[in-house]
Amino acid sequence: MTRCDRTEAWSALAGHYEAHGRTLDLREAFARDASRFEALSLQAPEVFADLSKNLLDTATLHFLADLARECELPARRDAMLAGAVANLTEGREVLHTALRAPLGAAPHGEPVHAVLAAMLAYAEQVRLDAQITDVVNIGIGGSDLGPQMVVAALESYGDPGRRLHFVSNVDGHDIAPVLAKLDPQRTLFIVASKTFTTQETMANAQVARAWFLANGGTVEEIARHFAATTTNVSAAAAFGITTTFGFWDWVGGRYSLWSAIGLPIAIAIGAANFAALLDGAHAMDRHFAEAPVERNLPMLLGLVDVWYRNFHGFASRSVAPYHQGLRRLPAYLQQLEMESNGKRVDLAGEPLPYATSPVVWGEPGTNGQHAYFQMLHQGTDVIPVEFIAVRRPTHAHAELHAKLLANCLAQSQALMLGKTAEAARSETVPTASATLDREVLARHRTFPGNRPSTTFVLDMLTPRALGALVAMYEHRVWTSGALWGINSFDQWGVELGKALASDLLPRLASGDTRGLDASTAGLLARLRG
Ligand code: F6P
Repeated sequence: MTRCDRTEAWSALAGHYEAHGRTLDLREAFARDASRFEALSLQAPEVFADLSKNLLDTATLHFLADLARECELPARRDAMLAGAVANLTEGREVLHTALRAPLGAAPHGEPVHAVLAAMLAYAEQVRLDAQITDVVNIGIGGSDLGPQMVVAALESYGDPGRRLHFVSNVDGHDIAPVLAKLDPQRTLFIVASKTFTTQETMANAQVARAWFLANGGTVEEIARHFAATTTNVSAAAAFGITTTFGFWDWVGGRYSLWSAIGLPIAIAIGAANFAALLDGAHAMDRHFAEAPVERNLPMLLGLVDVWYRNFHGFASRSVAPYHQGLRRLPAYLQQLEMESNGKRVDLAGEPLPYATSPVVWGEPGTNGQHAYFQMLHQGTDVIPVEFIAVRRPTHAHAELHAKLLANCLAQSQALMLGKTAEAARSETVPTASATLDREVLARHRTFPGNRPSTTFVLDMLTPRALGALVAMYEHRVWTSGALWGINSFDQWGVELGKALASDLLPRLASGDTRGLDASTAGLLARLRG
């Protein structure tokens, strides 16, 4: 594997950045090139992407495509999709793509389709069971964020008679208000954990079990009211759960919503819609596997991420989905991107001389506009923004949807165009101080512009479109991680805190602070009792 900074393309990009990239002005670029939008936008399965408001030109893309080839991205992608051990530190294949492939089109087809059929049949059985009105998914990280994001996004495909709840935090303020609303005889708990050892999930599952038994449920009824989705079926059985749907260690937790972990999704939207979600993801997988680098949307996005992070030095990216259903997408993407690519050594364990994962954050539009967009427009940092617009809503309020879309378009326009001091000076502003010097006021009201953004357009937020969108993000994260030469599929960085929490738990009870640093000892003493 060739690391990005050891390629000729990297040096070419550095030269290109100094000569053109640093000073590229989007307004001038559009004025110079009438075909910029056509040249820098593309249609992938279900997702149209406008990259033309980014700080790049066709020459930049040319150098970035060279970088992808020099880093052997196409061959490494093919090897991963064919089942190579791409997760080196854990010695595992990386095959979430196999979970959405038709039988025979990817490795592990038979077990994948056997579990899928059983899981979908069970989901349909629960959907037909009028007695079950509430389904509680107990899981955290990848066993929570993906299902929760999808269930919210596809709310309009759900059955209004059934409520889905998600409990993740070990903070009892999460589970307590959920349990308070439930009737044990009308509730199904799904304990979702790849490992079935995660402290938060196990603790919440114990609370749910004790609550069930304390409120009239019997041990025999646990079989009907508890199910587990896990790679560790024997641990689920030891817990007393007999209805289990398995998956495999070659599915990363944050890539697992397509597996049995998707059970709450299937219960919410039904087997046919779940199949459509998988089908959309598979269509994006085919695009990722087959399209040339220059027209490969996930690859282009990952390449632009590297351009921004390592040449422009942008440290974060904001996601603004202009669809309320996608309100959990930023949280989902935080795990997907930052747990995958927040790494500081390469595959050989060598410290990296360049930055990796940006901070990913955001809120749905238009809410974000009334919170932090001020900083995006006039703050000192340049933060690329990613807009997601959906052409057709699933509600009947056309007047609201038109306003939403107008706002989405206006924000990317405003970021790019800005406002000159001259324009600010010429405006009459009734809300401005009457005594303030006009020139000073104009400076406050100037927008630098030239701030980059990408806009994705979906025709409608259908299961298929959502599947394609999420798969696009997965492959984009792989692309930047592969260029950086890191392992995007492990997460050793979460281990230390877990181990220290195990040490501190008994100390909270005993008050023993021996060997602790003074700050932790002082805080522990304050928090006890
Ligand atoms: O936070 C670390 C992590 O391992 C994530 O990668 C994972 O999604 C989450 O914990 C939950 O793990 P599990 O599904 O095994 O309970």
